[in-house]
Amino acid sequence: MRDVAVIGVGMNKWGELWEAAIRDLLAESVLLALDDAGIDSVEAMYIGCMSSGLFTHQEHLGSIGPDYSGICPIPGMRVESACASGGAAFRAAYIHVASGMADIVMAAGVEKMTDVDGGGATFALATAADQEYEVYNGVTFPGLYAMMANHHMHKYGTTRDQLSQVAVKNHLNGSKNPLAQFRMKVTPDQVKNSVMVADPLTLLDCSPITDGSAAVILCSMDKAKELTRKRLVKIIGSGHASDTIQLAQREDISSLKSTNMAAKQALEMAGRKISDINFAEVHDCFTIAEIMVIEALGIAPQGKGGKATADGITAIDGKFPVNASGGLKSKGHPVGATGVAQIAEIVKQVRGEADEGRQVKKADIGLAQNMGGSGASSVVHILEGM
Ligand code: COA
Repeated sequence: MRDVAVIGVGMNKWGELWEAAIRDLLAESVLLALDDAGIDSVEAMYIGCMSSGLFTHQEHLGSIGPDYSGICPIPGMRVESACASGGAAFRAAYIHVASGMADIVMAAGVEKMTDVDGGGATFALATAADQEYEVYNGVTFPGLYAMMANHHMHKYGTTRDQLSQVAVKNHLNGSKNPLAQFRMKVTPDQVKNSVMVADPLTLLDCSPITDGSAAVILCSMDKAKELTRKRLVKIIGSGHASDTIQLAQREDISSLKSTNMAAKQALEMAGRKISDINFAEVHDCFTIAEIMVIEALGIAPQGKGGKATADGITAIDGKFPVNASGGLKSKGHPVGATGVAQIAEIVKQVRGEADEGRQVKKADIGLAQNMGGSGASSVVHILEGM
């Protein structure tokens, strides 16, 4: 395995983008990443996308990506692992370069979710759950995470206010991110009193429906040293694990085993402990998800993620900043793009290029955690500035 660095990152402004087609979204981030890296093509492209067929009736992104980015005839391939598709695409690109098969490979991610109505989006997202045993019986994603939240609250005493604090923190960070979908600050009372989606999760506990893309360029370390004058950001750890797709089959629905396993793999590969990591971008698709993820990563002890959040540990100026980008909650969650955007954010932070007011003070080593469904798949990466 060779050392691999990320030498270029790009992300478009996320939101409800009526004027753009999925191909436009993808090409925009690809071109931004090429520009950031100072190159005009790559040797291969992996594209994370969960459900372009259901959301836009367009498949075959392995062709659309290179074609509309003007970099044919490079090989392109779509990678799907529900909401972890972007993280999985990044891992595939990492393996491609680390193996020595190519020197420069792109990982992109895209989702165009607002061309269908709310019911259509809920249906498409629910295909990431178990169709025969969960969805057939009426479960939606907010419903699954609501069950996890209720169990966590019952077992550990996690409170309504602690859930709200996740949204308050992430909207505060996102208010300083010009690329974020929802840049308003919110108060704990606004979160608690916003419309109920699936008890106890309200509208402001949920990540939104988003159109957006992101792209990053991976390069062998030797070549990266020749190509870039920016701070080199090396991939030092990569982990990937799965869990039962059905929530009902888990031993414990108030912990995230796949995230814990993927994190252990990534930390072991990096030769680091979680206390060596400076900051993280994590998969807060619902406020309870961030609480459970920081427990699975070991940022907070099991059952204490809510308290750690309320105590300010994960705030931008806290001991372990989490989701300085605004997270999925405020930045948005175009599902296939999220995992790639997390890597782009880590790189920006490590280079000291984050927007004013949300640059993490000590940002030498960052961790990205991306998860599919109710935690049925998880991908974790650790990146370090050289
Ligand atoms: N956070 C903050 N504001 C939101 C929001 C969110 N997550 N979602 C929508 N809004 C706002 C809209 O801008 C709109 O505001 P306006 O009335 O001022 O224009 C209002 O709330 C209603 O928006 P609408 O699009 O009608 O919402 P909806 O009821 O169709 O959808 C959810 C809201 C929460 C159900 C939807 O965003 C959802 O399903 N989220 C979860 C996505 C998901 O499961 N992802 C996969 C995770 S694994």
